[in-house]
Amino acid sequence: MQHVFHKGTDEKKPTLLLLHGTGGNEQSLIGLAKEIDETANILSVRGNVLENGMPRFFRRLAEGVFDIEDLIFRTQELHDFLAEAAEQYGFDRKRIVAIGYSNGANIAASLLFHYEDTLAGAILHHPMVPRRDIDLPVLPLTPVFIAAGTNDPMCTAQESEDLETLLSAAGANVITKWFNYGHQLTMPEVKAAREWYEVNFTEA
Ligand code: MLT
Repeated sequence: MQHVFHKGTDEKKPTLLLLHGTGGNEQSLIGLAKEIDETANILSVRGNVLENGMPRFFRRLAEGVFDIEDLIFRTQELHDFLAEAAEQYGFDRKRIVAIGYSNGANIAASLLFHYEDTLAGAILHHPMVPRRDIDLPVLPLTPVFIAAGTNDPMCTAQESEDLETLLSAAGANVITKWFNYGHQLTMPEVKAAREWYEVNFTEA
């Protein structure tokens, strides 16, 4: 997969996996990652699907209606790529924390829905439930931060609440924070994500 890797300066930190929204690319979230942790490795990936020229991580049939077959295929493709990248760049495959926005948050959630041990944690900005027809793997205390907008027309409150319920039932340690905005990624939620990250991934 097309990507960039920036080696961090602190080997104790996890590797941040950046997953952009529809129409973004591997550069889109680099600044955001630096707000979360300036010293961690960054692996930023470009989605392999194009929708009217806009990169995405999987196909959709309509807004909010996912092509489940493609979602499954692309989730496995990303999961396999993470193992290859860990080998190529010499980082710990078991210590990857995803930071995803919108479509990128949805593929990150899909990794958690399909694979055990694929992510050590996840920051999901405006995610949806990737699919509703499977049992999740066991996710023992995997830390997950969900940032949701109270006026988000794309991700309803129900989507965020259902996602939290499903991940928590699988054992994940989920926190959802609500912000009085729409679907856009805003600074208050990035600050809240940073505080959550510091508690969960920064050793004292
Ligand atoms: C999706 O297709 O993943 C969601 O509708 C969010 C987006 O617009 O990318």
